[in-house]
Amino acid sequence: MKKIIIEGKKDLKGKIKVSGAKNSALALVPAAILAKDEVVIENVPNISDIDSLSEILVNLGAKVERGNSTLKVDTSSVNKLIISEDISKKLRASYYFMGALLGKYNKVEMYFPGGCSIGSRPIDLHLKGFEALGAKVKEDGNKYIITAKKLKGANIYLDFPSVGATINIMFAAVMAEGETVIENAAKEPEISNVATFLNNMGAEIRGAGTSEIIIRGAKDLKGCSTEVIPDRIEAGTYVVLSAMAGKNVEVENLIPSHIDSLLIKLYELGFDVKTKSNSVIVKKTSVERPVIVRTQVYPGFPTDLQQPITPLLMSIKGTSELEETIYENRFQHVPYLNDMGGKIKVKGQVIKITGPTSFKGTTVRATDLRAGACLVLAALFAKGTTVIEDAQHILRGYENIVEKLENIGASIKIEED
Ligand code: UD1
Repeated sequence: MKKIIIEGKKDLKGKIKVSGAKNSALALVPAAILAKDEVVIENVPNISDIDSLSEILVNLGAKVERGNSTLKVDTSSVNKLIISEDISKKLRASYYFMGALLGKYNKVEMYFPGGCSIGSRPIDLHLKGFEALGAKVKEDGNKYIITAKKLKGANIYLDFPSVGATINIMFAAVMAEGETVIENAAKEPEISNVATFLNNMGAEIRGAGTSEIIIRGAKDLKGCSTEVIPDRIEAGTYVVLSAMAGKNVEVENLIPSHIDSLLIKLYELGFDVKTKSNSVIVKKTSVERPVIVRTQVYPGFPTDLQQPITPLLMSIKGTSELEETIYENRFQHVPYLNDMGGKIKVKGQVIKITGPTSFKGTTVRATDLRAGACLVLAALFAKGTTVIEDAQHILRGYENIVEKLENIGASIKIEED
């Protein structure tokens, strides 16, 4: 167990550089299974979820070489198609091995994936997609044995545009016989990043980034290299920080259009948002008004920024409203924010936030990854010291967060419990 200790109200100024996208890298690494020789992935963030995926690959028999931000993976020596329960449960993205191993070897045995506990998070759409491609799914408690004599292309309609299901079905379909069409596919930028990687391997995928993805199966896929796109959620978190700091914090190395839904909310709140091709700086103005935020799939406001934007809404005069529509249990940070001086009321899937707030330091707990990021933001602007327990959740998704914040003048340290 780790804890992050922050002494708040320091003068924050300087630049924060965004790392490679967690949710892209978490799909690109298992995708390496599909190539018959070595793949090289650049701009991989140094976060603990990547360590967990590397551990799974090594367990399956693959060779993994990790440089600073480069990962070389050779899966030609894979000799196991089983992932044990303890490793499957380490993270959500372990589910990508289902599609990748099924696509390449027509067989996989693993357990229900782990991840932040923010709702029930079923994987029924993934499994239905595999079945549509001709696979048999045998469920034994939380264990899944998925096999196929032969995978055949199919028309698949997703009841919800799930990121995980879209990518997993792409993995299984990319080596299936014939053509697969995924309708109502997720449109998140991470999907396009994965499709580009698979196309570099020799796959034929069209339409990634739209709601209809067409995949023509290939006999085999070859090694290649690719680069992880900048992390739009890490970027969004630091852009919120830039707004709270009010003038001197610039966020660099991001694709501003990937966080349009956030930038537009900042304009609505009354901020002046200065955007360059790959950087954003947010400045306070004399205008300040509350807003209504509703989480939606891309290009809507991301659920992963719902918790990080909350401290900003707390700092604004008036009552803002925030509705969570993707997950049913993503308000676990609220009691801690109220302990820090907040006036937030939860009613079902909506929270009402009345500001402005004088944040005060206390002991809080990171119940999940983005809840942890939200508490870090609140702590940076709080009077006194905040201790964030269970900070290991934060390190699953934010590369070098302590160093990045120290560089802009924060007083922050991490300790082992
Ligand atoms: C991914 C991201 C996560 C982000 C989420 C939504 C990764 C590793 N994680 O998670 O950070 O919060 O997208 O942007 O990339 N659903 C089903 N059945 C399924 C699959 C999903 O009902 O088979 C539901 C989920 O319960 C949830 C919604 O669909 O309510 C969104 O899930 P999904 O897009 O699949 O998110 P993840 O891939 O789990």
